[in-house]
Amino acid sequence: MSAPTLYQPYAHFVKQANLRGLEDYQAISQWAQENSADFWAFQANRLLSWQRPFATALNDSQAPFFKWFEEGQLNASFNCLDRHVLAGRGGKTALIFEADNGQVKKLTYTQLLAKTCQIANALKQLGVEKGDRVIIYLSVSIEAIASMLACARIGAIHSVIFGGFSTTSVYDRIVDMQAKLIITADVQMRGGKPTKLKAIVDEALLLGPCPSVKHVLTVERTSDTTSYQAGRDVTFKEWVEPQKDQCDPVWVDSEHPLFLLYTSGSTGKPKGIQHATAGYLLHAALTTDWTFDYKPSDIIWTTADIGWITGHTYALYGPLCLGSTQMIFEGIPTYPHSGRFWEIIQRHKVSVFYTAPTAIRSLIKLNESNLDEHPKNYDLSSLRLIACAGEPINPAAWEWFYQHVGGGRCPLLDTFWQTETGGQVLTPLPGVTPLVAGSCTLPFPGIDACVVDETGAEVPHGVAGLLVIKKPWPALARTIWGDAERYKNSYFPDNLGGTYYLAGDGAVRDPATGYFTITGRIDDVLNVSGHRMGTMEVESALVSCTDWVAEAAVVGRPDETTGEAICAFVVLKGARPEPQEAERIAKLLRDHVGKMIGPIAKPKDIRFGDNLPKTRSGKIMRRLLRSIAREEPITQDISTLENPAILQQFQTLRT
Ligand code: WTA
Repeated sequence: MSAPTLYQPYAHFVKQANLRGLEDYQAISQWAQENSADFWAFQANRLLSWQRPFATALNDSQAPFFKWFEEGQLNASFNCLDRHVLAGRGGKTALIFEADNGQVKKLTYTQLLAKTCQIANALKQLGVEKGDRVIIYLSVSIEAIASMLACARIGAIHSVIFGGFSTTSVYDRIVDMQAKLIITADVQMRGGKPTKLKAIVDEALLLGPCPSVKHVLTVERTSDTTSYQAGRDVTFKEWVEPQKDQCDPVWVDSEHPLFLLYTSGSTGKPKGIQHATAGYLLHAALTTDWTFDYKPSDIIWTTADIGWITGHTYALYGPLCLGSTQMIFEGIPTYPHSGRFWEIIQRHKVSVFYTAPTAIRSLIKLNESNLDEHPKNYDLSSLRLIACAGEPINPAAWEWFYQHVGGGRCPLLDTFWQTETGGQVLTPLPGVTPLVAGSCTLPFPGIDACVVDETGAEVPHGVAGLLVIKKPWPALARTIWGDAERYKNSYFPDNLGGTYYLAGDGAVRDPATGYFTITGRIDDVLNVSGHRMGTMEVESALVSCTDWVAEAAVVGRPDETTGEAICAFVVLKGARPEPQEAERIAKLLRDHVGKMIGPIAKPKDIRFGDNLPKTRSGKIMRRLLRSIAREEPITQDISTLENPAILQQFQTLRT
């Protein structure tokens, strides 16, 4: 195998970057390693505005429940808005919004502050208080961002639910967090298709008792006949628009929860990852500053939906905290044509473009078969940096992105992180790190990452193991909402000593450079188009289709476009269907899962059998299912299998 190309840091970046050269990085990283608390304290004073200064950087007396910047008080919305306005930069564009249908709306910092205050005043009037949970079920929009900041302004805890999640997912989250208010819209438009969000909320609220919910506040985009329940349902028009555009920020303690974001785990229901105000905001700002090498003239476009952590950290908190201009886009990359992303970059002169490998992979296919929509037909010269996150990027996609979008002149950063880490933790830095396709290279300064074995001992470079972060950092999620025990067991397991953060991914380091390559999840979490999905969640959705399904097991298999694909093995209540009937039932099951969780959870493959492959003790043999899903020959030992004949059934009946 030939040695991978090392893309050297770019001379212009080395001269101007916020961090200059590998030596600068190594010196800072080493200092941060040895003086972790001081490093973060220094950055917290440099990047955040404090109403009351903090007394200590780190309190680790109750590890792994770490506390950062105690005694300090601040407000995230003040840091993202007021301080820029107070410094005379209120006229700068904060948001450039492009709707699905191409309409553009721009908002300055002064205008975004006013809008945030109006929503905050409405929330107060509707009875929302500090610490209350507010669900935001909106697509990428000015209202979504202003609503998040409005919650932060009054100390309420926001929890954005991705607009692609359906009724049951919304209901489960309402109940888990005991939400007091839900902000939604009558419709969201993506790819020309409307989704009636308010109607989904209405259905969710009927699934069971939800006494915590006092109001549903709706953005009206159409004169649609959305039904409104008197007393509970209110609209932006009546409640937000007449409000004053000033609202004093509520100063909160550093550790006050800023938001909950639900994500899939290996077992059970999705978990509400809880982030603390100061630590999270600091890491968001610092990584935007160094990884994106932030310049005041930048136009940053993070394409992720606001319902995911990438949307939170890099479409809102990081860039707004630094006073940057953000591009935000409601639609999808392929509508009305597959050159839409390149058109937006050209039209709005985007300089930093942060997207997901899955988007790149699907655009490669479409752009290479339809050269009219190829990036070469667009003026992408405004770009100076490109990056991706959320899943592994294969070297071929990396090269295409680098050459055709970055023009071979923009550094391409493969950034690794998670909902729980708050911001990037393994990432190249422009002007610092020589790049290699397919590696997220080195830890961000202040992140003490390494690869260990099952006992917590570090493994030599070149040997695969578990990715851990040995020391706490400020943006580490503080807990799982309402389940501290699960937090401790999932992320700080005793077999690793109880103080290492276990990411849940495997990794291996290059023997020569020490670069990290992520080898994939070590648990039952799948990554489908960059979306985390627990196999158990999909299984429960399938078996809840009680009219049809007796039993189901779900595994992942590699997929060229979506990274991984969901494969379901289903045992029906009646007889195993004939091929034509199988198609019909498979569609029914996919729709059911779509309704329960959301379209992203629909299994790509569904296979039917009379039973699942089980050991004599009744355990499902998932490794066999994985081989079948990948269409690999079965080489494993099947001597403990009770019913070998069903393997062949599953191998033959696939829809
Ligand atoms: C995966 C998204 C390889 C990983 C920001 C992780 C990656 C999960 C990368 C977190 C990357 C994220 N290379 N894998 N650069 N970035 N992942 O919480 O499996 O939605 O655990 O956060 O995505 O997904 P989450």
